[in-house]
Amino acid sequence: ARLVVLVSGSGTNLQALLDAIDADPDFGARVVAVGADRDGIAGLERAERAGLPTFVVRVKDHTDRAAWDLALAEATAAHTPDLVVSAGFMKIVGKEFLARFGGRFVNTHPALLPSFPGAHGVRDALAYGAKVTGCTVHFVDDGVDTGPVIAQGVVEVRPDDTEDALHERIKEVERRLLVETVGRLARHGYRIEGRKVHVGE
Ligand code: GRF
Repeated sequence: ARLVVLVSGSGTNLQALLDAIDADPDFGARVVAVGADRDGIAGLERAERAGLPTFVVRVKDHTDRAAWDLALAEATAAHTPDLVVSAGFMKIVGKEFLARFGGRFVNTHPALLPSFPGAHGVRDALAYGAKVTGCTVHFVDDGVDTGPVIAQGVVEVRPDDTEDALHERIKEVERRLLVETVGRLARHGYRIEGRKVHVGE
């Protein structure tokens, strides 16, 4: 399967996918391009080090959000992905992107959805006093972190946790969960029925 990965930051989830694919000839997927909504991020450097094509689609370069969404969809479609993976991509895509990639667009979120959706899931879980949190890999729908859940991993919250310390511990689980989930979807195929995702049946 052909993967396009979208990033906005350090790209350690992208790196985990690249390393897993390098290490396993039977992984069943390869990253064909990496896209971002901003320049100058480590995620794009990781892609360039891996010799991958990259594209940057910035909101401020477009007249409005819909134009940005269309440009992102077209830049992504140019690489004919089978599956698009949002790995720390910090923008909400719109109708155009979902029209083309809905049902084959997965996101990883650093909390146990439906708890703590949005851009500050780690901070919100900590502030709430949750005793466990974790990460979720889900299909993207037209909501914010509301699409069908594919896989989740649990991480304990420690009394002395800071947001960064907790997020780093979550990311250790998240990187493994994303690699395992993307590999399963690519190798075994999947069916989405309402909120249920059936992999490989
Ligand atoms: C991940 O925890 C992702 O869930 C969240 O931001 C982090 C991105 O990390 N949205 P990286 O860029 O993959 O290192």
